[in-house]
Amino acid sequence: MAPLAPTRAEGREVADAVVAWWVSSAVRRERDRLAWRVRREPWRVLVSEVMLAQTQLGRVEAHFEPFLARFPSPSALASARLAEVLSCWSGLGYPRRAVALRRAASVLVDEHAGQVPCSYRELRALAGVGDYTARAVMAFAFDAPVMPVDTNVARVLARAVAGRPLGRGRSQEVADSLVDGARRGRRRAQAVMDLGATLCRPSPSCDRCPLAPASGRPACAWRAGGVGADPAEGTFGSSRRQSPFEGSDRQGRGRLLRAAAARPVAPAELAVAAGWPGDPARAERVARTLVADGLLEGQPEGGYRLPR
Ligand code: ADE
Repeated sequence: MAPLAPTRAEGREVADAVVAWWVSSAVRRERDRLAWRVRREPWRVLVSEVMLAQTQLGRVEAHFEPFLARFPSPSALASARLAEVLSCWSGLGYPRRAVALRRAASVLVDEHAGQVPCSYRELRALAGVGDYTARAVMAFAFDAPVMPVDTNVARVLARAVAGRPLGRGRSQEVADSLVDGARRGRRRAQAVMDLGATLCRPSPSCDRCPLAPASGRPACAWRAGGVGADPAEGTFGSSRRQSPFEGSDRQGRGRLLRAAAARPVAPAELAVAAGWPGDPARAERVARTLVADGLLEGQPEGGYRLPR
């Protein structure tokens, strides 16, 4: 069993080894072609991270450049009509992120001269920007020595560095040890994230791993200890599974939003618009969740429309 707390030096050594592998890897050549890495303006990075937090990479790739072409700056997004923002977001899912991003864009215009700030405190103050997104923007846009922990990074930390399952707080502590003393963080964060996204998958390709115990590099704590239970199991954030979309409230929410984007939905049309003609109570309940998220507005005469 690996020692309870990997030391700061151990974390840094693992990160150094992952970076050494990544710099000249095919994985890097492939993933550095992602649109938000080719051009790393902070606004592009912020938009990409908000999208990537809940949408699969392939889907984000399809929507990212069209969205940026229409909203190339915070001011372009802040001044756009919500209906247009939602229509450009359509296909990415979880549209309340689009509403939050538009609110964040207004704050960027009003309080940051239309620029994305680089401090954790100012980033976290923006609507929709949580701990992960703030750190990701700091690392990827500003090259700050911070390590954002997404599901891929969490898996690498638990397996390679700690050799045991990690809760949320411990995960971030271990992540911090990887950038401790570093001056620049971008390539460290990308290297660790890319290892998790490609080789250190839920079902891992240990034979090709740069931290395989026989590699001569610092070894994966899990594999160095033999073939014990996978520490990624039970690690915070590493086994998030999405419930099926078909038949879900999310599906009805999407249908209602699309209907309301075309024209206000009258009370008598609501159940059909949601896709549940036999269940008007469910349609009403789901419409109210959209109101609570700022995506729909109730009308005085009943029914719903997009907010003005
Ligand atoms: N590069 C920077 N951030 C990323 C992310 N969240 N997913 C994949 N590649 C990235």
